[in-house]
Amino acid sequence: MSEKKVITIDGPAASGKSSTAQMVAERLGFLHVDSGSLYRAATAAALRVVPDPAEWTEEVVLGAARAISLLPARSSFYPVMGGRSVEEEIRGDRVTANVSAVAKMPRVRDWVNETVRNTSADHNVVVDGRDIGTVVFPKARLKIFLVADAEVRAKRRLIQKAGEVTDARLAEETRALLERDERDASQTVPAADAVVVDSTILTQAEQVAKIVALAEDRA
Ligand code: DC
Repeated sequence: MSEKKVITIDGPAASGKSSTAQMVAERLGFLHVDSGSLYRAATAAALRVVPDPAEWTEEVVLGAARAISLLPARSSFYPVMGGRSVEEEIRGDRVTANVSAVAKMPRVRDWVNETVRNTSADHNVVVDGRDIGTVVFPKARLKIFLVADAEVRAKRRLIQKAGEVTDARLAEETRALLERDERDASQTVPAADAVVVDSTILTQAEQVAKIVALAEDRA
């Protein structure tokens, strides 16, 4: 079997990694794997078993995470528990508020990395996250680090939530994002050989076209 191709897209929260990764995968005929969805699913699974996060240990989270599998649907993999998609549950506020602490647990990181590598083994993939180009696939053929100004990211997030973009909401969302950046900073580092793409002034279509062109150049 020929060597499978891997493209990594890392970057801070709300930089558009997942949607960009999904579109790049569709354009290239690859599959998309969202590593953040596994940290979120582990958090959702732990919340189901032990509702108070103050009582969580690595064992609690890892035990709960055994219920999770990743299943392909169209061009992306989605976390599933008990045969049901948990896509909505993992995007909720309680999961978002508690996922950074789960992502700090070393054995949870090992579990996510192993699951991502196993899922990717038989496919050409675009994998997004924070440490995919540095830790999970350090030999990937193309590594992207996607950045954007905090206020632009906050505005996109508000629009995604279908909320009205008032000055007060924008300020609050920007503050919350910067706080998340701070919590996730230690694992959000560009690989030395990553191409930094700043999406502040690019449309999503332009970002996707740029990454697809880079991938085709390296083919
Ligand atoms: O990208 P996201 O918001 O879905 O990520 C959820 C959390 O998981 C966030 O706290 C960062 C963390 N994460 C990580 O530490 N490493 C990854 N490869 C992906 C996500």
